[in-house]
Amino acid sequence: MTDAAWTAFDAAADRDREAKILDQFAADPDRLSRMTLEAAGLWLDLSKQSWTREAFDACLELARASGVEAARARLFGGEAVNDTEGRAVLHPALRAADGAEFRALGEPVSAEVAEVRGAMAEYATAVREGLETGATGKAFKAIVHVGIGGSDLGPRLAWDALRPLDPAIDVRFVANIDPRDMAEALTGLDPETTLVIVVSKTFTTQETLANAERAKAWLAKALPEAGREKHFIGVTAAPDRAQAFGCGRTFAFRDWVGGRYSLWSAVSLSCVIGLGPEVFGRMLDGARAMDAHFLNAPLERNAPVLMGLAQVWNVDGLKRRARSVAPYAHGLRRLPAFLQQLEMESNGKRVRRDGSPATRGTCPVVFGEPGTNGQHAFFQQIHQGPEVVPAEFVVVRRTHGDAAEAPLWANALAHGQALMQGKTTEAARAELSGLDPAEADRLAAHKTFPGDRPSTTIVLEALTPEAVGALIALYEHKTFVEGVIWDINSFDQWGVELGKVLAQAILRDVEAGGPSDGLDPSTADLLTRLMD
Ligand code: F6P
Repeated sequence: MTDAAWTAFDAAADRDREAKILDQFAADPDRLSRMTLEAAGLWLDLSKQSWTREAFDACLELARASGVEAARARLFGGEAVNDTEGRAVLHPALRAADGAEFRALGEPVSAEVAEVRGAMAEYATAVREGLETGATGKAFKAIVHVGIGGSDLGPRLAWDALRPLDPAIDVRFVANIDPRDMAEALTGLDPETTLVIVVSKTFTTQETLANAERAKAWLAKALPEAGREKHFIGVTAAPDRAQAFGCGRTFAFRDWVGGRYSLWSAVSLSCVIGLGPEVFGRMLDGARAMDAHFLNAPLERNAPVLMGLAQVWNVDGLKRRARSVAPYAHGLRRLPAFLQQLEMESNGKRVRRDGSPATRGTCPVVFGEPGTNGQHAFFQQIHQGPEVVPAEFVVVRRTHGDAAEAPLWANALAHGQALMQGKTTEAARAELSGLDPAEADRLAAHKTFPGDRPSTTIVLEALTPEAVGALIALYEHKTFVEGVIWDINSFDQWGVELGKVLAQAILRDVEAGGPSDGLDPSTADLLTRLMD
């Protein structure tokens, strides 16, 4: 069944490869209504993607044949969809309404989720109201959130997007093992009023443990021993390790929460404190609305499904191996980094579930910068470079205060339009009519835009907690849909392991005084230079 759908998909790609996006609006008068939709308060426009109506239908058939609906049921049903680690993947359970009855591998989990959520809210409120104090009885004014990867990017994105300009409790994030990161975060902070929250699912991550030691030493230098543990909180799926490390209190989550899908859990404790439980709850509401949409909307009106199909069409149909993302909101400036982990760690794979080579594309390179900044950097290449790089514009109507920010999002619309329509050599030449003809011809080539370059636009009314939650959940489910179509496990990350092991081996060489036998010449030379 999948083979036939892939054959039809490939045939559509062969047939429609040269079809111009702009022409499709005339060819299919329903294009706009077919390829735009509302989902959980977000507006999506996929009509500027380079698919004809027939290609769009072939993509939908591929989603059906790949069993997206059945896979979705297995995910929400708590089955072991992470089948290299034998784990359920249940981030939707973390944002479910009270009274939900999620099960992970058959075991009920919703009561525990509600309990942790309640404990977080209680603790956050006590910190915010100055009832939970530090060792010297002072209220907390700052949080240093220590974590990396999924234990950093989601909460950092949420904080940047939703933080007040002048927060009562400042939240600073430290991820890099470079001591400069921690040094910058601690600058200006008073240990007496600082809460350190160490976030690590495994509580074994080298960077996080090194930074946690630094933070612990910084606290120890200034605070009495009695009560010092009140400044040091752990968030982890391994509470024993966090306690052994010296955390005064721990908030737990389970192994069915994947790191890059974990911001709905206690991993966001810093945000729950900094933003308040009510704001965090509204973010969960937005994500839950997207879950309901993903579960209930028919495939042809299903935002994560259509976003996933646009990516599969670009990668597999048209061989476009990169995608740019430009959020037009300063608050979403870390969205590209978040998506790099979400998509590339989830779907940057080369084998299918059964271990056989993935013959299809899998995840493209995802990169980006906030708009309008990116326009003055990589946009040159997406407009005129030889490779077609599909673009994604995340447009926020009101980013700051109540006014609509036309100067901001007019730029997004203009670039989507420019990518699609381009500019012919004749039009460029006509603008150069006063020049020497040979020089005008030469310059016209430089000022020509090929056009016919695809983009998706996502519109948020404002950076509300609901919209931010819905947006992140949209990307999570889109990533899942792609994984189902490519038949890969989106929830493991074996590719990060080898580097971790070799880093430990190199550190052992450093301790031993030099490169060990058998180290390749290049690495041995670099190591010697760095040790000198
Ligand atoms: O190195 C990759 C990774 O395992 C991610 O998947 C994860 O989000 C990150 O490291 C941090 O892991 P932990 O939360 O266990 O410290």
